[in-house]
Amino acid sequence: MISRRPGRGQPPRRERPHDPCLPHVQPAEAAPFGRHHTNAKAVLTEAYGLRGRPGTVQALEIAGRGAWPARGRKPFDSTRRRPAEWPPVTTSELWTRAEADRYDAEETEMSSAAVLGPTVAFLAELAGDGRALEFAIGTGRVGVPLRERGVPVVGIELSEHMTAVLRGKADESTLPVVIGDMATTVVAGGFSLVYLVYNTISNLLTQDEQVECFRNAARHLGPGGRFVIELGVPPLRFLPPGQVAVPFDVSERHLGFDTFDLVEQVLVSHHFTRDGADGHYRRGDSRHRYAWPAELDLMARIAGLELERRVADWDGTPFTQDSPKHVSVWRKPL
Ligand SMILES: C[S@@+](CC[C@H](N)C(=O)[O-])C[C@H]1O[C@@H](n2cnc3c(N)ncnc32)[C@H](O)[C@@H]1O
Repeated sequence: MISRRPGRGQPPRRERPHDPCLPHVQPAEAAPFGRHHTNAKAVLTEAYGLRGRPGTVQALEIAGRGAWPARGRKPFDSTRRRPAEWPPVTTSELWTRAEADRYDAEETEMSSAAVLGPTVAFLAELAGDGRALEFAIGTGRVGVPLRERGVPVVGIELSEHMTAVLRGKADESTLPVVIGDMATTVVAGGFSLVYLVYNTISNLLTQDEQVECFRNAARHLGPGGRFVIELGVPPLRFLPPGQVAVPFDVSERHLGFDTFDLVEQVLVSHHFTRDGADGHYRRGDSRHRYAWPAELDLMARIAGLELERRVADWDGTPFTQDSPKHVSVWRKPL
């Protein structure tokens, strides 16, 4: 994804043979309701009979209230159901059990101390004495070490499978996680920091949803609180006219390339990953809405946030026109 892998499409990416942060979906895994699709909106529409156009702001607002317009079923009663039982409505792809298991099992640069050290230090300083909320916390790659550093952390996560892996590292009382969509799910209490790392805002495939995500971050922040995003810069400089794909990894274990829909502002990352020693390759695709830093700044402004800082990495490297990714900090005015 432009999204899930900082620096995607850039030459340095070749240093990483494989990136398990991307879902490697195979038909068998991708059929939670018996068909081959991993799009949460489509799956849930099929399962619960969502009326109207799925993925619209209207649908998101409905989901945010916990009341689901069901065909042939009673709407969900938000007073009786725990939030984890509300079906989320989002264009995001659902991460499967197999993807969750692979996520931590495969050692990557993103899980190394060299990356996590500066990441956690950066976030801990911004959290100060307050609480931190991680959107799309996944298996707790960042949330768990941040909690261990003494920062109270709460997570929102769409995939119960990713959360199950996190639970092997931290229990509910140590690191609470609400299952839901980061664009609409609201958790109790105020936060000094909301953060969304590893390109994950691009998992929301529409501009409306990305704007809602900013608004949801702002909703959770107190005055002076910060929203931090880590996101790759769209690798469109590597896409000359007439070419349809940009390779981002050509290595022994993994072949990866992106294809682009320049009108919809969506890219698809294609992966062929060698599994084990039998010579077979596992194929997986993931869709992402890419966005330039300037578009995110406008989303932040819509949400009532102001850009405070933009750097190229967690160690504070200055952001330049050649930076493959950025770490951006927006602040809620006092
Ligand atoms: C690239 S992983 C990042 C996980 C973790 N933040 C990290 O840095 O390792 C993307 C995660 O985003 C989650 N996700 C995708 N769309 C989401 C959404 N709309 N709301 C909440 N979580 C979402 C996925 O289930 C997955 O766990």
